[in-house]
Amino acid sequence: MKSKIINIEYIEYNSIDELGSQYNRLVEKAIEAAKYAYAPYSNFKVGAALLMKDNTIITGNNQENAAYPSGLCAERVALFYAKSINPDNVIVALAIIAIQNNEITDYPVSPCGSCRQVIAEVIERQKNTIVLILAGKNKVFLIPDALQLLPLKFSFVKEK
Ligand code: THU
Repeated sequence: MKSKIINIEYIEYNSIDELGSQYNRLVEKAIEAAKYAYAPYSNFKVGAALLMKDNTIITGNNQENAAYPSGLCAERVALFYAKSINPDNVIVALAIIAIQNNEITDYPVSPCGSCRQVIAEVIERQKNTIVLILAGKNKVFLIPDALQLLPLKFSFVKEK
């Protein structure tokens, strides 16, 4: 018998401006995307922006539905769309922001469990990790390896 501990590494910034210019731009794209979210039930608009290896940016936002479970989070809208148009284009980074009452939230929004499961499988599939940028007005978290967000995840792939 052995007791094991799992740690995750992330970097904390005090503002979006503290991020480098490349990630700053990605966050700006996530903010733009959030404006087009369809969130009449939660009034919580989420924007996701993917930085691709070829330097293009693909965005998504949450799409809700009167039948609540039929909606989809911003992250999965962006991830599924990116892989549907070009499965070989590697996703390098993913920025997530949320707008509530017309303002970016003070604190970062972290992806839900289902999105973490999808992010994890995308990483395995493309054999390249994804840097996550979770941006709030007063705090920004940069998670260098998004796989760390879902330890012991469900997987058919044999783990080391
Ligand atoms: N939502 C996202 O789009 N991404 C997240 O990471 C958290 C939650 C959406 C789902 C729903 O439309 C709304 O935010 C409120 O939960």
